[in-house]
Amino acid sequence: MPEEQKPQAMHPSFVNVIRQKERVKAKLAGIKHKIGIYSAKGGVGKTTIAVNVAYALKDKGFKVGLLDADIDCPNVTMFLGINDRIETTLPLKPVIKDGIKVASTAMVVDDIKKPIIWRGALITKMLGDFFENTDWGELDYLIIDLPPGTSDAPLTIMQLLDMEGFVIVTTPQKIAALNSIRSGLMAKRLGMAILGIVENMSDGKENENTKNVEKELGVELLGTVKNDDTFKRLSDEGKIPLLESNEIAGEFGLIASKLI
Ligand SMILES: Nc1ncnc2c1ncn2[C@@H]1O[C@H](COP(=O)(O)OP(=O)(O)O)[C@@H](O)[C@H]1O
Ligand SMILES: [Mg+2]
Repeated sequence: MPEEQKPQAMHPSFVNVIRQKERVKAKLAGIKHKIGIYSAKGGVGKTTIAVNVAYALKDKGFKVGLLDADIDCPNVTMFLGINDRIETTLPLKPVIKDGIKVASTAMVVDDIKKPIIWRGALITKMLGDFFENTDWGELDYLIIDLPPGTSDAPLTIMQLLDMEGFVIVTTPQKIAALNSIRSGLMAKRLGMAILGIVENMSDGKENENTKNVEKELGVELLGTVKNDDTFKRLSDEGKIPLLESNEIAGEFGLIASKLI
């Protein structure tokens, strides 16, 4: 286990951390592959990629779950047009949409507009409680939509969940590439596997900044997703781009094939 992942023996709650990891592992034992969709930068399309990859995998016949791990801005429900709430009896049961099991903290808050203004310790507590108490049953893939940043929430996810690996999302911009490199290096430092890179909002041409991310992280491009206003329109309407456009379905079909 890499040094950073080991609970510090001097930490007053190290026994609790070890026990929590064991409880989470037991709870998620029915899930074959847990894949995170990640970038330290906001707005690059993590949620968009997570949602459409989940649908692409389901279209290939797999049992799929989608976990919204962005506590501050849990957007998965809006992208999916879900207004249902999780019943607050334990264990929590994901909401099923188009055959995909979906869980988000947006389904448990009383008012979706109310900002979450929490310090890291509370975010960590909420994530841990959510992982430990949600019943996913048997799944081939659990796709996890990560929040931006390289601190508390992504760190907790990397430490607590037994992840197969991460897909790093980038865009053609140099600033996105820089933040993608940071994200990938963080994940690697924590002993996580990088499964590949997706260039979102692509202009369809080979991009030097994205090639730089591939080189720095030593991983290949899984695929590109073109910049297309369809995404913006449909995400506001709670419709799934992959279901509405053959071109988009093709792009995500290729990404899902490479992932499996
Ligand atoms: N390929 C794309 N082309 C055009 N707009 C996109 C594309 N991918 C995502 N978007 C839009 O960009 C915005 C940010 O996407 P989102 O998935 O919320 O990013 P993140 O989760 O990284 O913050 C959303 O309005 C989304 O609809
Ligand atoms: Mg997001």
